[in-house]
Amino acid sequence: MKAVVFKGPFDVAVENVPDPTLEQPNDAIIRITTSNICGSDLHPYEGRAPLDHGMVLGHENMGVVEDVGPGVDRIDVGDRVSVPFNISCGTCRNCTAGWTNACLRANPTGRPTAGYGYPMMGPYWGGQAEYLRVPWADFNLLKLPAGREHENAFTMLSDIFPTGYHGAELARVAPGDTVAVYGAGPVGLMAAHSAMIRGASQVFIVDKEPDRLELAERYGVTAVNFADTDPTEVITDATDGTGVDCGIEAVGYQAHDATGQEHPELVMDKLVEVVQSTGRIGVVGVYLPQDPGAATEGAQQGRIGFDYGSVFDKNIQLGHGQCPVKRYNRQLRDLIIRGRAQPELIVSHELSLDEAPQAYDQFDKRVDGWTKVLLHPAA
Ligand SMILES: NC(=O)c1ccc[n+]([C@@H]2O[C@H](COP(=O)([O-])OP(=O)(O)OC[C@H]3O[C@@H](n4cnc5c(N)ncnc54)[C@H](O)[C@@H]3O)[C@@H](O)[C@H]2O)c1
Ligand SMILES: [Zn+2]
Ligand SMILES: [Zn+2]
Repeated sequence: MKAVVFKGPFDVAVENVPDPTLEQPNDAIIRITTSNICGSDLHPYEGRAPLDHGMVLGHENMGVVEDVGPGVDRIDVGDRVSVPFNISCGTCRNCTAGWTNACLRANPTGRPTAGYGYPMMGPYWGGQAEYLRVPWADFNLLKLPAGREHENAFTMLSDIFPTGYHGAELARVAPGDTVAVYGAGPVGLMAAHSAMIRGASQVFIVDKEPDRLELAERYGVTAVNFADTDPTEVITDATDGTGVDCGIEAVGYQAHDATGQEHPELVMDKLVEVVQSTGRIGVVGVYLPQDPGAATEGAQQGRIGFDYGSVFDKNIQLGHGQCPVKRYNRQLRDLIIRGRAQPELIVSHELSLDEAPQAYDQFDKRVDGWTKVLLHPAA
């Protein structure tokens, strides 16, 4: 089959690789109809997270079931499915508690998390390819209505829509709350959309990329450009001087200032400033225990020096981590089907697999207009 293969930093290629096969009785093989490029794919792409050369990329996958092992009985050949980016066994301590992001059995290294085509998440190939092997298929796959309807919305169910929603859940966004989201990439936009769905009275989103901030307005969200203003001032003024109830971090460890200089603590500091006392902050942007390329010596060892003193002093609650996709994907699917959620509004490009190398390059450079790239392997 054809697949997008990681060759090394800033180098991906479309190559022929062996088709995946059923390796375990609980496996399924999916024929991929859509696989997205994610901001998280840029971490290995930029050499900022170690990935084996030869790995097939892609953790945001959906398609049609092509084959199932003898142990699979809930999922049938021909079902249209969404594949959560977390791979989970369904029976370990963390999976049974709903924390499918921290499965204790799926990653052979023993690290409590597994996923497709991603650094340190196990040997599983990704779905930027014609086919994908899915372990524990009965547990992991979410069924979708047959056909092609809502394809561009459903494709957000494998990662970024649940991840954005998880940010809102960690920040416990409730009706009437005011919310500040940092980062207007796909995850931040989905967090803002989720906060609106949960009944926030006003949502602000902060970034410096005008094309992304413009998209935020489609979701009824107030855009704040940190290149021309101090977001704390703007948001505090707009909330009668109090600041917001909830903050959502959707930037991660490569947070930078308007000149592009990285400051890994910058966004956490800004959120602690703008969230009012007894408020909540949900962090879904990724931070790493090791990052040899980090801007500060501390951050190279995962030590992010933000204002924890004020977090304590203001009684702000913090939540963070990888999203357990299965906790939300069924409910978010039904919001899409019934017309209450429109995650597809952020799609900027629909391309064939062959166009992936150029897409990685443009998306990585944040070229104007490259917000969310969908690859259609059958195109
Ligand atoms: N927790 C999870 O399960 C999970 C899942 C998917 C993605 N993620 C992470 O979420 C983060 C966002 O993902 P994405 O796909 O939207 O990435 P992205 O890189 O497309 O978007 C990040 C945005 O942050 C903006 N930004 C940078 N510095 C900023 C600052 N100081 N203030 C405000 N905005 C700033 C950038 O301009 C960019 O638009 C990444 O760290 C990604 O790895 C986490
Ligand atoms: Zn992703
Ligand atoms: Zn498990």
